[in-house]
Amino acid sequence: MATFDKDQFIEDCLAAVRGDSAYREVALLVERAVSDPTALEAVIPDRTVSPMMTVWHRSDELTALHIVWPPDVDLYAHDHNMWAVIGIYGGREDNTFYRRRDDGRIEVNTGRTLLQKDVISLGSEVVHSVANPTREWTAALHVYGGEFFTTPRTMWRTESLEPVPLDVEFIRQNLERAAAAARIADTPGEQP
Ligand SMILES: [Fe+2]
Repeated sequence: MATFDKDQFIEDCLAAVRGDSAYREVALLVERAVSDPTALEAVIPDRTVSPMMTVWHRSDELTALHIVWPPDVDLYAHDHNMWAVIGIYGGREDNTFYRRRDDGRIEVNTGRTLLQKDVISLGSEVVHSVANPTREWTAALHVYGGEFFTTPRTMWRTESLEPVPLDVEFIRQNLERAAAAARIADTPGEQP
């Protein structure tokens, strides 16, 4: 059985970032990784109990994250201000993409559903919101071309689509709430 070597993956991503076509090379590396969900699941055996977000690498040139989406999550529209490559190896992630308006607000443009083994590459200008409308936990690799946590970013309020500074802690709390609700729903005898 093929295995997934996390350290090698990070090393390969860093090598790609130092080359000329980082974005495309990282997309190929993520594609290769999520093409074998069984190998990834051997590293992260139970996504329902793993942390929502695990930092695999964090530096000024690259951030690599393992992200788990609980069921029934719908997160604020946000930007990244750096390129991103996202690969799904389990579950589903619905992306909505937005067009930026001159007044700072945004409007819905297009959408794309990502299923297992799908990879999406996003340019640094992209604004998207992400949702997991299913009862399955989604598992994904996210690679960003910069320091994901300290780069100033924007999110947009759901109703008004007005911009506000992105608050990572706020998003983390939303994910934790959804995870707690999903764990209760999944516990035998706890259903209403
Ligand atoms: Fe995002």
